[in-house]
Amino acid sequence: MERLCKTTRIVTVNGQFPGPTLEVKNGDSLVIKVVNGVKYNATIHWHGVRQMRNGWADGPAYVTQCPIKYGESYTYRFNIEDQEGTLFWHAHSPWMRSTVYGAIVIRPKGNSPYPFPKPDTEALVILGEWWIKEFIEMAEKALDSGAAPDFSDALLINGQPGDLFNCSSKGMLAYSSKLMVFLLSEFEIYLKIRQNTQNINVIRAAAGETVLLRFINAAIVTHQFVAIAGHPMTVVAVDASYTKPFTTPYLMLGAGQTADVLIHTNQPGGRYYIAAHAYRSGSPLIPIDNSTATAILDYDPIFPPLPASDDHDAVAAFNAGLKSPARVNIPAPVDQHLFITLALGLLNCPPGKLCGGLLGNRDSSSMNNISFVLPTKQSLLQAANYGQSDVFSADFPEIPPAKFDYTGNNSDPSLFRPIRATKIYRLKYGSVVQVVLQGTSILSVEEHPIHIHGYDFYVLAMGKGNYEEERDSAKFNLVDPPRRSTVGVPAGGWAAIRFRADNPGVWFVHCHMDFHLEWGMMTAFLVENGAGEMESTLPPPADLPRC
Ligand code: C2O
Ligand code: CU
Repeated sequence: MERLCKTTRIVTVNGQFPGPTLEVKNGDSLVIKVVNGVKYNATIHWHGVRQMRNGWADGPAYVTQCPIKYGESYTYRFNIEDQEGTLFWHAHSPWMRSTVYGAIVIRPKGNSPYPFPKPDTEALVILGEWWIKEFIEMAEKALDSGAAPDFSDALLINGQPGDLFNCSSKGMLAYSSKLMVFLLSEFEIYLKIRQNTQNINVIRAAAGETVLLRFINAAIVTHQFVAIAGHPMTVVAVDASYTKPFTTPYLMLGAGQTADVLIHTNQPGGRYYIAAHAYRSGSPLIPIDNSTATAILDYDPIFPPLPASDDHDAVAAFNAGLKSPARVNIPAPVDQHLFITLALGLLNCPPGKLCGGLLGNRDSSSMNNISFVLPTKQSLLQAANYGQSDVFSADFPEIPPAKFDYTGNNSDPSLFRPIRATKIYRLKYGSVVQVVLQGTSILSVEEHPIHIHGYDFYVLAMGKGNYEEERDSAKFNLVDPPRRSTVGVPAGGWAAIRFRADNPGVWFVHCHMDFHLEWGMMTAFLVENGAGEMESTLPPPADLPRC
């Protein structure tokens, strides 16, 4: 791993990597002026923030806004409403988010206590990835040639790979807080690694404490297991919604997922490893970043038992342990049923081009056979708001659940060659929506972390193989399912989610693995208010960028 010790130019915010932490309280209003000082188009997304009636502040480029161009700025104004825990922000224009990200820590309103024992200390544990190549090269490779990008060269915790890498030097910048101007700039960074035990990536606590650790998987590709030697973790929240306390030896965080956990420093004092490695949800033939990132909890170093990289049962067991704290009011009855297939596939290489995808094709991905094409002339939300009819069509196709077999080699071949289109799905405002997300085994079996902007949803059940309505709906947890905004649809399986479409706007729905996203595994929900179009969203801000 000598090659890690190279200087790479990265884009980040305020010269910090990871970027600044937003420390806020539930109910706070945030005003963040994003100034783009880099020559690439940029936007920032506040991942998991519900943005009630306020898609204007959500951020995905060409979905809710046009990108902020070089030298321009846009001020995001939004409120945190009924969300507590940990979320994060990240760039939402192709690939930039590999280095442009930071934490959002949301503490309870006023002086209200946490709904769990008061922690003595808190710390952030942000999982990420590091590429030696510059992001624009990665982006061009994935987008232009249609090939899978190279996997990252190292996994990071709080911006550092930890001491399992043997290239000597010092630690990196740490995060800081309360900076409300986000200046996107490029700077050169030397990925520094500490060899000695003075690893700067240390989380300090005193013996006998309760420590709240806020985990964020900001990686853009890699799902990760993470564990702490000698310290079982009690999960108390995921994606800024509280859970029933669930004690587990490891966490599984898909790209884009967060978890708040409590640990007790009740072991003999010393240094304990915190370690993270990839969950390989796909075929063993697909390369992954198989490095192990480490940090130290201030105790004697003991290596934690991480699940094996391909331990699918460990993933299912982890997910099965997540529940809401108490009985929840599950929206019912269901007004709209939706079945969405998540597939990888191939597109023909455009004439005169050389494509790097499988067999000279462009690799692609799709939802219900649509490989989504983002508009470039206008964002979806602006188009919906101004009634422009030539930006998208609201005819996202429906596929009945039992139509095909999605397991083994039996997947329907028509899903193999998706159709490129900008088709979004209309949800009736206020309606109860149930979505079954079905992973397919087309080209590759993989876990897809599906993120829905503007919404939290209940994860009613997950399973292996094909979803079968009669059999599987009987297994729904209608008592205390977890509430989240990113669900890891099991590799070769399905997940069923439910929510009330109570947030009008246009909301991006996509796989949170970056190249699956860029390849087209995305769509959007257009939620109107019933009385016609978008009038119950806030008006567009005056400084909203134009395409
Ligand atoms: Cu972090 Cu569109 O998402
Ligand atoms: Cu995916």
